[in-house]
Amino acid sequence: MPKEIVLSGIRPTGFLHLGNYFGAVKNWVRMQDEYDCYFCVVDWHSLTTHPDTRELRGHVHRLLGELLASGLDENKSVIYIQSDIPEIAELYLYLNMLAYKGELEKTPTFKDKVRQHPQNVNAGLLTNPVLQAADILIHRAVKVPVGKDQEQHVEMTRNLAERFNYRYDAVFPLPYAFNYGESLTKILSLDGTGKMSKSANEMATIYLNDNDDLIRKKIMKAKTDSGPTEQGIPKPDYIQNLFTLMQLVSHYDIVAQFETAYENCSIRYGDLKKQLAEDMVEFIKPIREKAAAIENDKTYLTKVIKTGAEKARSNASKTLELVRKAMHLNYV
Ligand code: TRP
Repeated sequence: MPKEIVLSGIRPTGFLHLGNYFGAVKNWVRMQDEYDCYFCVVDWHSLTTHPDTRELRGHVHRLLGELLASGLDENKSVIYIQSDIPEIAELYLYLNMLAYKGELEKTPTFKDKVRQHPQNVNAGLLTNPVLQAADILIHRAVKVPVGKDQEQHVEMTRNLAERFNYRYDAVFPLPYAFNYGESLTKILSLDGTGKMSKSANEMATIYLNDNDDLIRKKIMKAKTDSGPTEQGIPKPDYIQNLFTLMQLVSHYDIVAQFETAYENCSIRYGDLKKQLAEDMVEFIKPIREKAAAIENDKTYLTKVIKTGAEKARSNASKTLELVRKAMHLNYV
């Protein structure tokens, strides 16, 4: 039986942080062995919010380096850059005729972007979910690993696929948002203000690119309090977040030791942070160094980019052939 097709995309608008790593990329790495995976660096998407492209090439190279250093494997998955696949743009055009202005304007991510960039509410921003649908449908993917905030886009993709199938012919299987387990590992910002993110406080976000001292400094500055005063009180979320990080990078016994200390109210957050900082440094260092080595190995990067584009295009053009046929766009 052929494996199910998984597809996800990532914008080249910044470096990877721990939220991306543990919330997304780590799962993608695991999916590579079970599914036919496509992972796309969506440079066209980033144009909707970042029209200045002078740094784009460097960002794409760095991001590829980080993805490969994190365990994405060009021999197991198809790893490619969106703008290398013109077939996506053609499918985007057709899907745009099936997407309604009203539903696009209602999309929460669109409304957020309008609030963030009131000076640049361009048509590409409005039809961003249609472009995402084209990314997914061009490979007839059925499983789309994304976070909560993207689930609506996958739902819209499903609606567009259904409309296409109904109006023309049954070309697309219906895709669903998907992740391992009940819930994704959610990493909070170290200042206790919501999700760890690229756009928020830099000092509260740990990047795979941060050097050892910066990692230490950020963790030592993380928000804590004076500690539990009674047994059995639940951890505030910023404390739970430090424990979560510790579970991800520290030895089991060490985590257990701090858990016990929390339980009996003898915990010293300074000690916890020192331990976490050292374990985090050990965890990130090899990824950072490998990412830098890959980023600088332009021969290897070129090979990855070219073979990814070839494989992705070959599959994409098969879908597009079915699409054109279904739409009667063949005249000879
Ligand atoms: N829209 C997604 C984001 O903003 C990125 C993305 C583009 C994507 N195409 C995709 C995610 C296809 C999953 C599948 O993060």
